[in-house]
Amino acid sequence: MLRRTHTCGELRDGHVGESVTLNGWVNSYRDHGTGLIFVDIRDRYGLTQVVFDREDADQSLLDAADTLRNEDCIAVRGTVRVRDGGPNPKLATGTIEVVVAELEVLAKTENPPFLPGEKGSLPSEDRRLRYRYMDLRRPEMQRILTVRHRVSQFTRRFFDERGFLEVETPMLTKSTPEGARDFIVPSRLQPGTFYALPQSPQLFKQILMIAGFDRYIQLPRCFRDEDLRADRQPDFTQIDLEMSFVDRDAVLEIMEEFARALWKDLLGVEIPPLERMTYRHAMDTYGSDRPDLRYGLELVDVSDLASKTDFKVFSGALEKKRGCVKAIRVPKGAEKLTRKITDGYTEFVKQFGAGGVPTAKVNDAGDLETGVAKFIEPIKAELVERLGLEPGDQVFFGADSYSVVTRALGELRQKIAKDLGLIPENAWAFCWVIDFPMFEWDEETKRFYALHHPFTAPTPAQVDAFMGVDKSDVDAVEAILSSGYDMVVNGSEIGGGSIRIHRQDIQKKVFDLIGMSKEEADAKFSFLLEALSYGAPPHGGIAFGLDRLVMHLAGTDSIRDVIAFPKTQTGSDLMCDAPSPVDDKQLDELFIASTWEPEEA
Ligand code: AMO
Repeated sequence: MLRRTHTCGELRDGHVGESVTLNGWVNSYRDHGTGLIFVDIRDRYGLTQVVFDREDADQSLLDAADTLRNEDCIAVRGTVRVRDGGPNPKLATGTIEVVVAELEVLAKTENPPFLPGEKGSLPSEDRRLRYRYMDLRRPEMQRILTVRHRVSQFTRRFFDERGFLEVETPMLTKSTPEGARDFIVPSRLQPGTFYALPQSPQLFKQILMIAGFDRYIQLPRCFRDEDLRADRQPDFTQIDLEMSFVDRDAVLEIMEEFARALWKDLLGVEIPPLERMTYRHAMDTYGSDRPDLRYGLELVDVSDLASKTDFKVFSGALEKKRGCVKAIRVPKGAEKLTRKITDGYTEFVKQFGAGGVPTAKVNDAGDLETGVAKFIEPIKAELVERLGLEPGDQVFFGADSYSVVTRALGELRQKIAKDLGLIPENAWAFCWVIDFPMFEWDEETKRFYALHHPFTAPTPAQVDAFMGVDKSDVDAVEAILSSGYDMVVNGSEIGGGSIRIHRQDIQKKVFDLIGMSKEEADAKFSFLLEALSYGAPPHGGIAFGLDRLVMHLAGTDSIRDVIAFPKTQTGSDLMCDAPSPVDDKQLDELFIASTWEPEEA
């Protein structure tokens, strides 16, 4: 085989006159009938134009060149010369070309499903995933996976320099609760028992702290059987970290230093120190625990003003348990939002449990008009002052229980920002969200859930309150704050963690509060409870979603673009056709039978 001397992105003026060999794929083939055949040859480093000269070349070489088709894999040997037709400023190699003396076709491509070298329209995503090797030949996909590589390398270097040790933890393990379903793997050697694939290495990293590895890092694969979204995969990668002898601020400081250094290294962007926002403030003001701070449109509580009106929607809401009325001012909204759009918002908020979204406009004279204007006339002056209303603005109201208003207006806020193009491009708005409640009561199942995970400690100031709290007192339990934290950028949660419980009695109380019996706690977590009785150091950490970090750094909004071999929304790998049935024999060995029956056609 003709072995390459250079890559397809490497040759410059300084190479003119040299004999070189290139390996790659035919990106395009042009025979203009001028006596020259032009072939662009591509590898992951770039494109180089190579030329076959009908006047000088052997007939056998020209015959071989004539057989070339897009995506054939080839090797060419030839001499670099200044590009005859003038430079192509779009190509890094655009000042030169290679006049071919020898061609070796390494492998032909038969009827490619699509052409990765072609600019413009892409085939459907299913087709891209089915022929992922073709899709990954696209320069854009190669760029993104290169960004991913740089993020991993940067991360390992950054934490190595700070004394973190990389330790691998098992994939075949026991369930670690992170709020999703487990993927389970049957054991052949111990029939009737199952491993779970880790939802995260949470407990192993805590055990490593107890074992004295005071700074741990791993880039683990995590597995969660949950409904997929644009930023979720069933099998994804974390940057997982844990530290001993730290308090919350120590963890926040180093993780913030990491995120800022990463953005600086990858994008050359200086991120200012991160704002720390309480969960309560984030929910109150942005209607979300991952607030997008690139734009305003804050939620403002107007319950006190609403109570002075005769508007049934307001009074009905205020009678509810934790009822409230909130408003969003949309600057210049009256000019930009048509009736059709605002009617659409009524439907939009219904998905989030709201009955609708009352609205009014401020006209040029500064008066309220349309929609619910007449109901809010009595509080006009106070509304104008509280919301800073100006002529041309539109105001939207949410009136219901706190949780419905927060959710509906939080979602509407994001929708309005998108509809009105209020989100600045290339802006980075980072923050920490802190002081989460430790538990959330779920009315449906009548039990508490840990908002982070059940290994998260209460804030140091609340340890005593927590140990004394009675689980029948829902309000008192919900008032306990945890030492959890999330890092948020542009409305996306890129990392989450906490200071952990390192006292056995606190851990037992958490299990009890979330409705876990002593027997269940022992069956699932006796190893942890036991380890906590052998001198567990105070410890805490975080996990970043590597895929999500790369999405931001590479500028794509699909998680499937940053993973070489991702799954579809329904959890399929279209290239290898997974998941797929297995032989009965394989199941027999595992003492397993499927109870699933295909629906009658
Ligand atoms: P958490 O569950 O918040 O915390 O996960 C940490 C980060 O992982 C990313 N992430 C995902 N990315 C892609 N697909 C998914 N299905 C998915 N789920 C989560 C998010 C998230 O912020 N053990 C704790 C961490 C800790 O406490 O240290 C944990 O896993 O970016």
